[in-house]
Amino acid sequence: MDPVRNPFAPGAGTPPPELAGRDDLREIIRIALERTRLGRPTKSVLMVGLRGVGKTVLLDRMREDAEAAGIHTLRVEAPEGRSLPAILAPQLRQTLLRLSRNEKAKDFAQRALRGLAGFAKALKVKYSDIEVGFDFDPEPGLADNGDLENDLQDLLEVAGVAAQKAGTALVMFIDELQYVEEDELAALITALHRSAQRRLPVVLVGAGLPQLRGRMGRAKSYAERLFDFPEIGPLPPPAARRAIVKPAEDEGVKVNNDALDGIIQQTRGYPYFLQEWGKHAWDTATKSPITVNDVDSASASAIAALDESFFRVRFDRLNPSEKRYLRAMAALGPGPHRSGDIAEKLGRDVTSLGPTRNQLITKGMIWSPSHGDTAFTVPLFDEFMHRIMPGDDWTRN
Ligand SMILES: Nc1ncnc2c1ncn2[C@@H]1O[C@H](COP(=O)(O)OP(=O)(O)O)[C@@H](O)[C@H]1O
Ligand SMILES: [Mg+2]
Repeated sequence: MDPVRNPFAPGAGTPPPELAGRDDLREIIRIALERTRLGRPTKSVLMVGLRGVGKTVLLDRMREDAEAAGIHTLRVEAPEGRSLPAILAPQLRQTLLRLSRNEKAKDFAQRALRGLAGFAKALKVKYSDIEVGFDFDPEPGLADNGDLENDLQDLLEVAGVAAQKAGTALVMFIDELQYVEEDELAALITALHRSAQRRLPVVLVGAGLPQLRGRMGRAKSYAERLFDFPEIGPLPPPAARRAIVKPAEDEGVKVNNDALDGIIQQTRGYPYFLQEWGKHAWDTATKSPITVNDVDSASASAIAALDESFFRVRFDRLNPSEKRYLRAMAALGPGPHRSGDIAEKLGRDVTSLGPTRNQLITKGMIWSPSHGDTAFTVPLFDEFMHRIMPGDDWTRN
């Protein structure tokens, strides 16, 4: 069918035509943010899940919901290798400038901007990647100790007061939080804790890979009590069906039931895969309805497309020993696997593989669901590893 009208949208962070199965969580966040605005106790929320389950698009949608309700937001993504203060400062500045246009909050927002100037100046020595415009001179003693834990606390406090005066809330949406260093996470947790104690309307809605939960707990032991960690997973069958049927129907196209069953079986309900299968089934079909035969012939091209994009971008960042480690995991099945079993597959001892395993965790390729266990962070990655490194030559160094 006409590819121009193809509604499906595979891609990292690409909004889906139908955000299926996430209404409950959006409602939970809506309530939490409204409570925050009223100064009622609320927990910050960190959504955790594998790659491609839809964390980023959900975060963006929640942010749109919040903005539409008159809540002030900022949105950042933590890239590997950049400091949290560096990515936060410019966005915080934008938010504070917007707040300063509110008559009731003006003086307080300006004070927060002075705090931001002191914050950036004092931390520049340690975090040389901080770059932010100054609108006001620093206020001596405000957020300018040069110590992130103290200064972030001060800064979020003055920003929180400004939001409070404006009758709004300040919500930080932060994606890929697992890449933030543990001491920087600790500072963020302390600052949020402080705001919560003072009933200031500042809250975090974050997203990250499953290892985020453990990282937060290691950064501050009380983090587990301070935050909710909803798990974002594959869509249950009714929502997965809706993710396909609704966009097709909006274009006047029907999808047969057995075709839908086929898509759900192949994708296991993972949102990224649903978009890819939807797209290829649409392009393969010549007319409505989309049939099970269309889905069958679309599978090969859907898998090829995933191998070239979704899987490939991850694989290309690996060095040879990391590739072998993941291939050994794949040889054992979807996982999780014991470190000892992986080492045995490679004919090595567990300790000597420790550095490789750690690098893979840092790169966000694998995580440890429980002590000594290792699992992929990318769904169906084991099957991809079999396709990209077939046979058994890979064990050789
Ligand atoms: N609830 C959903 N229903 C249908 N498609 C979705 C849903 N959530 C995400 N997607 C699609 O899945 C893909 C991956 O989403 P993304 O937010 O980048 O995942 P993550 O951030 O978890 O890796 C995108 O193509 C997006 O359109
Ligand atoms: Mg994402």
